[in-house]
Amino acid sequence: MNKQLAIDVGATGIKGALVNTEDGSMLSDRIKYATPKPAMPDDVAKVMNNIIEDLEWKDGDIGIGFPSIVKNNVCCSANNIDKSWINVDIQALIKKHTGFHSHILNDADAAGLAEIEHGKGQGVSGTVIMLTLGTGIGSGVFKDGVLLPNVELGSLLYKDGLAEHYASNGARKSRDLNWDEYGEELNEYLQYVDRVLTPDLMIIGGGISKKFSNYAHKFEPHLKVIDAKLRNNAGIIGAAMYAHQKKH
Ligand code: BGC
Repeated sequence: MNKQLAIDVGATGIKGALVNTEDGSMLSDRIKYATPKPAMPDDVAKVMNNIIEDLEWKDGDIGIGFPSIVKNNVCCSANNIDKSWINVDIQALIKKHTGFHSHILNDADAAGLAEIEHGKGQGVSGTVIMLTLGTGIGSGVFKDGVLLPNVELGSLLYKDGLAEHYASNGARKSRDLNWDEYGEELNEYLQYVDRVLTPDLMIIGGGISKKFSNYAHKFEPHLKVIDAKLRNNAGIIGAAMYAHQKKH
């Protein structure tokens, strides 16, 4: 068994747990704090430190899924987080606040890694796209199980804005869409993604994957779309897997 602490930073909540990276199972309860508002770097790092202390982690590096483009552990975009995050070296920030070395990747890339290895993407060849529908839209794109990092399918120009302004769970709430209306909107967006990348499988994750049957009946039959097995834990599990890979 490989015990690994990982944290999934979201626009509304920051969640952490201990994960067995061999089988993707959770080894602790999931600890959740509200994301500070505004979500300034130092305040978010303090919440991460609380999670580390709550889980009594003393064994080394940590894994972090972060809701932005992440290159070499640096935050490179800020759609749904405070703009002051841009160009922040997340690894250095975490070290300063917690003393721990960390490995950081995009949150949806993390969720996809988990779903490909331990969920419904297991053994699927070709192009698999993980879409996490939360405040924004996160995406993890895989070819034969290999990740192409930082693909931002929620930031595609779409209608009069970005795709995530129309088809995320946040958009469903702010636009006050009922489930049928949301299903139609999401169907339109999925057809767009399908047209651009011709995936063999699309997996819907994030909190809203629990409600899949409320909206999935609106999807065109030719789209291959399923709900995630690991639900809302995929981001934590994938970030743990990433940290474990980086350490070895
Ligand atoms: C960000 C992505 C992130 C997604 C889900 C989007 O607003 O641009 O990087 O993966 O939200 O958190």
